[in-house]
Amino acid sequence: MQYGRNCWLDMRKLPDGFKLGVATAAYQIEGGWNAADKAPSMWDNFCHKPSKIADNTTGDDACKSYEYYKRDIEMLKFLSVDFYRFSISWPRILPTSFPNKISEAGLTYYNNIINELLVNNIEPVITLYHWDLPQNLQDLGGWANPLIVDWFEDYARTMYQLFGDRVKTWITINEPKQIAIYGYGLPRLAPGINSHGIGDYLAVKHVVMAHARAWHVYDKEFRAKQKGICGITIALDYREGMTDSPSDMQAGKDAMDFEVGLYSHPIFSTKGGFPDSVVRIVGEKSAAQGFFRSRLPEFTPEEIEYVKGTSDFFGFNHYSSRFYSREKFEKGMYPVPSYDDDIGAYYSYMDYEKSAVIHVTVVPQGIRKALNWVKDTCNNPPIMITENGFATYGGLDDEKRIMYYNKYLNATLDAIDIDNCNVISYTAWSLMDNFEWGFGLRIKFGLFEVDYEDDFRTRKPRNSAFWYKKLIATRAIEQDYKTEFKEISF
Ligand code: BGC
Repeated sequence: MQYGRNCWLDMRKLPDGFKLGVATAAYQIEGGWNAADKAPSMWDNFCHKPSKIADNTTGDDACKSYEYYKRDIEMLKFLSVDFYRFSISWPRILPTSFPNKISEAGLTYYNNIINELLVNNIEPVITLYHWDLPQNLQDLGGWANPLIVDWFEDYARTMYQLFGDRVKTWITINEPKQIAIYGYGLPRLAPGINSHGIGDYLAVKHVVMAHARAWHVYDKEFRAKQKGICGITIALDYREGMTDSPSDMQAGKDAMDFEVGLYSHPIFSTKGGFPDSVVRIVGEKSAAQGFFRSRLPEFTPEEIEYVKGTSDFFGFNHYSSRFYSREKFEKGMYPVPSYDDDIGAYYSYMDYEKSAVIHVTVVPQGIRKALNWVKDTCNNPPIMITENGFATYGGLDDEKRIMYYNKYLNATLDAIDIDNCNVISYTAWSLMDNFEWGFGLRIKFGLFEVDYEDDFRTRKPRNSAFWYKKLIATRAIEQDYKTEFKEISF
């Protein structure tokens, strides 16, 4: 094998100090949707409407972690993770959405988790926003309303005040693209606003501004005392040309600028603001379509400066790769105006090995390319891989998930060892099966299986949980993994 410094026989060592963890998100695991004084989130409302979720399930109960969080921590101890990434439900902790009222029950719940993690030497990594906006803020326009920047600032400051003495890694926002494009441009995720080519771009700008505001609050008011770090997590599935033709290659580049650059360029590039290519393309199309101004809002010069440099690390979620062709793009393929029409390309996942969801196919070389893209276009920041994982329909024997993790970790080590990408941690999505948004409970991403038929929500480690446990213990990838599976319950 030609893996270089960290390889011996069939083991490949992780870099010294490299951290390993798992992730979840509040709406996907907590349940207790109306427990105590919790207010509804836009996901509660979305799921309570007919025909929004493929299998007609909801996150009302999910894994019941609101009740059973102690067992989640037992599972984390079983794996011996370095850290646990989880999110706070804004309407659970602030039932009015504003800091005028802090929920006793919500505060106790998150304090219990954080304290229990620390007692067990597991570092809490908190995501402030993983998609469950309070419904009353959505009623006021949600991410399409510029005032959300103030609302998010107040929420973020309150969380730093409540938990920042113990929490040292903050992720402001999880996946701005999914929030803006799938929530406000397509009816795919809550709130399900179908304002394609208009509402989505408003949300894009406000998500970026809200993140920057939350970072500045941490930087100015808390950093010196609390000594933590704060950043954003961006979905960085790779996009590339379907063929080597110059126009397909250009389509791949444009797709990266739209899908990732819209969020990374304002924050991580030296120049700041939205990528030139996106500004030009949306500006020209808007004019040709009869709009008096670009559908993509502008940043003022002050805003460009304000947003630049507002992340202490690059939170990197990666699942798969998608391939773009301008040659195969036809008029009428997408609504006009729309984000997809603006990108102006046909796309496909090609015939790579599939998982149980369309957006996750097995393309391990894509993670290496994506990590290099961050290194090259974002000033080589420290990268925390905050999600990576594979979907099945269930079963404790999940060899395919192990293969996926093995291949993606090997490609990640290529990016570190050979390409010098500055990757400092890796997070498996997910600790356990949970509510997979529009797909519902049927799709399983867990290292642990959750039995939704059982009121106690019994959790059992899959084969992949044993594999991850061993990876954490040995800090090395075994090329030929031998199963040590036995059936146990939490
Ligand atoms: C999200 C997770 C989700 C995962 C798998 C990511 O986009 O952050 O919440 O479950 O993908 O689809």
